[in-house]
Amino acid sequence: MFGHMGEMWIKSFQEEFDGFLHWSTGEAALRRMASDYTEDLVFMPDVVVEPQSTIEVQQVLKWAHAHDVPVTPAGAMTGLSGGALPVQGGISLSSCRMNRIVAIDELNHQVIVEPGVIVQELQEAVQEKSLFYAVDPASRGSCTIGGNLAENSGGPRAVKYGVTKDWVLNLQVVLMDGTVIETGANTLKNSTGYNLTSLMVGSEGTLGYITQATLKLLPWPRHNALMLVPFSSASLACRAVSEIFIAGAQPSALEFMERSAITLAMEHEGLDATELDPQVAAHLLIEVDGFEPDSLMPQLERIYAVLSRIGSGDPLMAEDDAAKEKLWRLRRIVGEAVKSKCPYKEEDTVVPRGRLPELLEAVKRIGTEFGFESICYGHAGDGNLHVNILKDGVTDEFWETELSVAVREIFKVVRALGGTLSGEHGIGWVQKPYMDLAFSKESIQLQLNIKSVFDPKNLLNPLKIWPSVDSKI
Ligand code: LAC
Ligand code: ZN
Repeated sequence: MFGHMGEMWIKSFQEEFDGFLHWSTGEAALRRMASDYTEDLVFMPDVVVEPQSTIEVQQVLKWAHAHDVPVTPAGAMTGLSGGALPVQGGISLSSCRMNRIVAIDELNHQVIVEPGVIVQELQEAVQEKSLFYAVDPASRGSCTIGGNLAENSGGPRAVKYGVTKDWVLNLQVVLMDGTVIETGANTLKNSTGYNLTSLMVGSEGTLGYITQATLKLLPWPRHNALMLVPFSSASLACRAVSEIFIAGAQPSALEFMERSAITLAMEHEGLDATELDPQVAAHLLIEVDGFEPDSLMPQLERIYAVLSRIGSGDPLMAEDDAAKEKLWRLRRIVGEAVKSKCPYKEEDTVVPRGRLPELLEAVKRIGTEFGFESICYGHAGDGNLHVNILKDGVTDEFWETELSVAVREIFKVVRALGGTLSGEHGIGWVQKPYMDLAFSKESIQLQLNIKSVFDPKNLLNPLKIWPSVDSKI
């Protein structure tokens, strides 16, 4: 590994940056950046650098470029595909000291942020001005906007408001050789040149390091209603999803949890999961929002009509903010609850939402064929199903050899249904073996060519997304 040769360049790094840049080679600092939320992976960087400004990012990247040292951009390490893991060692370039909300532009409904801002802090800061930043990933309390930009994060509200890329107007980006560019303009419309903003969002830190982002805001839709709806069959719950949209409702969240998901979440929260009706196989968590209290009822009536026609159980309506928060907490905690139960492999499948029942059925069928259990939940309104394959009940040998075959089977079905590999977690380190299912050889080559235009020495977040890019090792 490159990391073991670290001392060859680290001395020169120290000489260059000692005294005027925050960096550390201490064990604790390295360890913090060595793992994220993806499985139990550990890749130690050789040095963690915490720049405080665009100029400092430039200096680090320029130096690393000249010395052939790999650099991995990193935020709060909450990623779910290993995108911020320094798999070749080298420099972990943390955004933790670039965490300012630079300006909230109330006149234009925009906000300018540095990459290290925690998403919930951004949401709350703009909400104080009755504005709304719509993207709301489950990890919002700890994840950074830079990480969201890198992975094009989504979350429950994407069904009405879209994903991170839909809110980005302009980015300041430092390229691997130290050049600073802007990708767009702080305007709502822009037909000027290639759309580098969209290219950068979701590129998982492989094309440049984002040092500033201009994001769009909305007026805050401060009224909402939230209900938990039980179903006697998971397939029925999935079928209800499309019906709700066909009926003309526009929920601000439409989440699916199969019984095992909500049971684990309840146990994790110290709640009594035996309270759940034994007949219930799955739940939908449905939210509608609006600017006026009166705007909610017509939406709810459409949804109730679908639920009653399709034969759900009685919806449980959250009565107040505390009840809403409790339901949302249960939903947000599912991933963590599964992780604390046993090792698992998480897939972030996404299909056109009308195909969701077929996807769920196929995941369960493949599970039976290969002999694994899975816990499925996610953003049903987006056709985005998180499939957590549990290690409990299978052998180590299966985990090492057969699991990837089973995952490939799932992805083949996803593709046949018109879907793709990841809806919001990215490809990162763990999903790249399956990229041949998502793109033709020609399309992969084109994307590799783009990578080499931005980073010809392949030093910026190397070995991510693409299976075949040569590494420096
Ligand atoms: C969620 C994360 C895992 O939806 O994406 O909880
Ligand atoms: Zn999710």
